[in-house]
Amino acid sequence: MKKVLIPLLALGGALSLQPALAQDAEALFKSKPCAACHNIDTKMVGPALKDVAAKYAGQEGATELLAGRIKNGTQGTWGPMPMPPNPVTEEEAKILAEWVLTLK
Ligand code: HEC
Repeated sequence: MKKVLIPLLALGGALSLQPALAQDAEALFKSKPCAACHNIDTKMVGPALKDVAAKYAGQEGATELLAGRIKNGTQGTWGPMPMPPNPVTEEEAKILAEWVLTLK
């Protein structure tokens, strides 16, 4: 698993330097079910994505952690409501996790 994630991380790091990625990631977010439960600024079914970014700010491995949770689902971090697994590829989950972490 680590061996696969490292090149992806490097790729994500390089891509995040390009402003175009932010737009692509936001478009990706809107094209997936995410927006039914998440808003960038306000809490809906799931936490506001800015709150997620604030919670994990500066935390090592946060991108990997969140990418895994976005893909496989998660519960218990923000409240009793679980997030179901989402129809994203590993790479899409990674792009989304990186983008979420850039939100302020
Ligand atoms: C059916 C509603 C629903 C959908 C669809 C959904 N989420 Fe969530 N999401 C949640 C809930 C509820 C939580 C809080 C889970 C918890 O408390 O651990 C959450 C948590 C998160 C977190 C924070 C995870 C953590 O451990 O702190 C991120 C990041 C996130 N969602 C991103 C996404 C993205 C990106 C998508 C689309 C690919 C998505 N979500 C789709 C409901 C949803």
